[in-house]
Amino acid sequence: MAAQDRPNGPVPDRYSRVAIWFHWTIALLVIFNIAVGLLHDPVPALRSLMGAHKALGITVLVLTAGRIAWRLAHRPPPLPIHTPMWEKALAHAAHAVLYVFMIALPLTGWLMVSGSAKRSPLNWFGLFDIPYLPVSVATGRLGHDAHGVLGWMMLALVVLHIGAALRHHVLLRDPVLERMAPVFRRR
Ligand code: HEM
Ligand code: HEM
Repeated sequence: MAAQDRPNGPVPDRYSRVAIWFHWTIALLVIFNIAVGLLHDPVPALRSLMGAHKALGITVLVLTAGRIAWRLAHRPPPLPIHTPMWEKALAHAAHAVLYVFMIALPLTGWLMVSGSAKRSPLNWFGLFDIPYLPVSVATGRLGHDAHGVLGWMMLALVVLHIGAALRHHVLLRDPVLERMAPVFRRR
């Protein structure tokens, strides 16, 4: 472990490679799942992707557990020194809610499918079965309702999150986006 990655070591000036890998892998899967989830009804061609939606959603749950463990053991870089306190608090709150959604969305989806009266297949790309949770039909319905509401809330928060990242890069011209997305590094 590099000295800068240790929780009590010196304050790092960028995210670690592992944190960056977790961020972009999960971001890609979540964006795919929001798009397929919201569009599979109006666009019938996307219905065949619902098996992947469920498998990738469970993958997000597993990856998020690993990501949170990594995050607790590795301190992230602080926001630029000029950032006002209210903005730091807002950024931390938004990130915490994103973590909650990364757990709550897969979990409510899993509850919905497990508690459905006519259970649809649940497996990881045909390689192995994912067990159903032992829940009632009423809990499944609750999961269904929550999944829909949380999906829209997550979409709104992700749009705000992307807007905030672009504001840092384009308007404030500070390194906040670069340290999570090194491809944007300015020479
Ligand atoms: C990152 C994880 C996930 C995200 C972001 C996500 C997002 C969404 C969204 C936005 C919808 C549309 C909701 C609506 O229009 O009411 C949806 C529908 C659905 N999701 Fe997920 N989902 C995730 C994980 C899961 C998991 C793990 C499962 C099951 C194991 C699942 C099963 C479903 C099903 C069956 C629907 C269709 C519900 C219906 O048409 O009534 N999702 N999802
Ligand atoms: C569904 C998609 C996404 C999710 C769930 C997500 C989630 C998160 C979370 C939880 C953090 C906090 C990391 C930490 O623990 O410190 C974070 C940081 C960050 N994200 Fe995302 N993200 C997504 C997409 C994006 C996109 C598309 C961009 C760029 C346009 C982006 C840019 C950033 C940046 C720059 C940071 C670092 C912020 C800082 O340094 O304080 N994210 N993201």
